[in-house]
Amino acid sequence: MNYGMADFIGGFWHYYIAAITVVAIIGIIWFLKSQTTRKLGTGEEAELMEPTWDADLKELNNPLPRWWLYLFYFLIFFSIAYLVLYPGLGKFAGIWNWTSADAYKQEKERIDAQFNAQFQPFLSKDLRVVATDPQAREIGQRLFLSYCSTCHGTDGKGAKGSRLFPDLTDKEWLFGNGDPETIKASIAYGRLGEMPPMKDVVGGEAGAKEMANYVLSLSGLPHDANLAAAGKGKWAACAGCHGENGKGNLAISAPDLTDKAWLYSGTETGIMEAIMKGRKGGMPAQLDYLGDAKVHLLAAYVLSLSQGKQ
Ligand code: HEC
Ligand code: HEC
Repeated sequence: MNYGMADFIGGFWHYYIAAITVVAIIGIIWFLKSQTTRKLGTGEEAELMEPTWDADLKELNNPLPRWWLYLFYFLIFFSIAYLVLYPGLGKFAGIWNWTSADAYKQEKERIDAQFNAQFQPFLSKDLRVVATDPQAREIGQRLFLSYCSTCHGTDGKGAKGSRLFPDLTDKEWLFGNGDPETIKASIAYGRLGEMPPMKDVVGGEAGAKEMANYVLSLSGLPHDANLAAAGKGKWAACAGCHGENGKGNLAISAPDLTDKAWLYSGTETGIMEAIMKGRKGGMPAQLDYLGDAKVHLLAAYVLSLSQGKQ
């Protein structure tokens, strides 16, 4: 979407701002003119403005030098030309219709065209093949540093903060099993899952503890078998999103709860918190922003990060 000044100033402010600009320019021209036309009459002496200091330092009101005044006229001419050509006078767009948004777009298109020629050949190749190509890896790494490292870290190892940015270099995947197409989909469409708070549904904190133990049991982690059995009985509340067997649902970014990869926490308390308060995570979609070719190279790069790892 393009926003111009016109979106911010309505009718009144347009006239108000435009009028101030025009009046200011006319005022300056008038003032300069009054200074240009003042000449010393024949025989007239420049007036002494102040008493003399330091024996010979005097301030006289001689007319201003011409070259200096003409410099000002030039600047005024420049500002008028600018206001005619470019946006600046209220919401008048200028006859060149220049906008910073368009300038940015053109610059981006020019650079995209230049780089896409380099990126495009990889798009038709299988992600597994691209992942082993040294040149593609190099490009992928540069893209990753610019677009992904803020969240996933420069080395792709993620970071623990208010939420977990998953480690992309291990063999654990929240979404899919590391198959190239799912990785690419995670990047292209993002993973913006939302889980509502389930505290009331599972029967308060005690119920959440039972559910948490059942979730731990799904991943084969240490758990209390009695609590887990009680939790299992209530699994219907979760099955709609995480699936009958807890394997998750990629379409709504509901993670697989049976593996050892955790978005937030794999501890009893962490899981209870997820259940009671809900979770709303976010990997933002990249396809519209980066385009298919870059997403392809990034997916291949992410794939290459975990290759050869257990
Ligand atoms: C704003 C932070 C942020 C940015 C920027 C970001 N990610 Fe993510 N990414 C996440 C989060 C958070 C997740 C976990 C998903 C969730 O919360 O549901 C994730 C998940 C992923 C996954 C899925 C991992 C798995 O285990 O299945 C991949 C792949 C991924 N990101 C790659 C990328 C790439 C490549 C980029 C750069 C184009 C990128 N991400 C940019 C935050 C981010
Ligand atoms: C409406 C769909 C939905 C329902 C119902 C639901 N979840 Fe979730 N759950 C999600 C989504 C989506 C996420 C991922 C949130 C994110 O990306 O931040 C999630 C995340 C989680 C997590 C965090 C996983 C991790 O890796 O840290 C746990 C644990 C969890 N859910 C357990 C449950 C349990 C137990 C129930 C039943 C009481 C349940 N969920 C019900 C959709 C749902």
